[in-house]
Amino acid sequence: MRIDILTIFPEMFEGTINSSISKRAINKQIIDVHIHDFRDFTLNNNNRVDDYSYGGGAGMIIQAQPVLDCLRSIPNWEKAYKIITTPVAKTYNQKKAIKLSKIEHLIIICGHYEGIDERIMNFVDEGISIGDYILTGGEYAALVIYDSVIRLLPGVLGNSESTIEESFENNLLEFPQYTRPEVFEGMSVPEVLISGNHENIRKWRRQKSLERTYKYRKDLLRKAKLNEEDKKILIELKKEQK
Ligand SMILES: C[S@@+](CC[C@H](N)C(=O)[O-])C[C@H]1O[C@@H](n2cnc3c(N)ncnc32)[C@H](O)[C@@H]1O
Repeated sequence: MRIDILTIFPEMFEGTINSSISKRAINKQIIDVHIHDFRDFTLNNNNRVDDYSYGGGAGMIIQAQPVLDCLRSIPNWEKAYKIITTPVAKTYNQKKAIKLSKIEHLIIICGHYEGIDERIMNFVDEGISIGDYILTGGEYAALVIYDSVIRLLPGVLGNSESTIEESFENNLLEFPQYTRPEVFEGMSVPEVLISGNHENIRKWRRQKSLERTYKYRKDLLRKAKLNEEDKKILIELKKEQK
């Protein structure tokens, strides 16, 4: 998968992209990442990419020209799937990450200051918001999208880091997990987890997954695929809440 990121702060990506899972994915040639500084495409002498907002108001707006020229410099940019980071869009989720992970060539444009001239929207496929809050720049959002997408690519995670049982798979939050020591600061690991009884462990984990989703994200539960056993657990949870 090829990923191009357009920003005026390329240095914000260096550490992240060359660490951990991302570094591994690059070394294994599963992803080919290119960071572009669209300030390199400005046509003025003082390297500015921003200007005042028509109609007035505080803050500066990034001009469409350097962003578009930078976009056009990317090989096959027209065929690539182009996204722009913006709070004015549908909210990102795991389902979208899975969709993006199937794309061969992804381009992510990062806004900054008060955003980019609206006319840039005519050259992208969609805007993506990572949540209902305002960031200083799209770089943070781009990194969130980047990380959530690359870890889904085949061969990036090892078997021990599988994505199969993670939160949001089947719209349920993950069960609690523990590691050694068995007793920490007087707190013991739930006994069932050291019982060696796989069926009881599976049931306990499902129960905890449902409990947590019920507690924190009832909105997800409505979309989850639930079996009869799950429904019984939820009926009990509802009774307990009353
Ligand atoms: C300070 S924000 C601009 C906010 C804009 N004036 C507004 O009120 O909608 C600067 C840039 O950060 C990025 N950004 C901010 N919040 C974001 C969010 N929730 N999701 C994705 N990108 C975000 C966008 O690229 C945006 O252009």
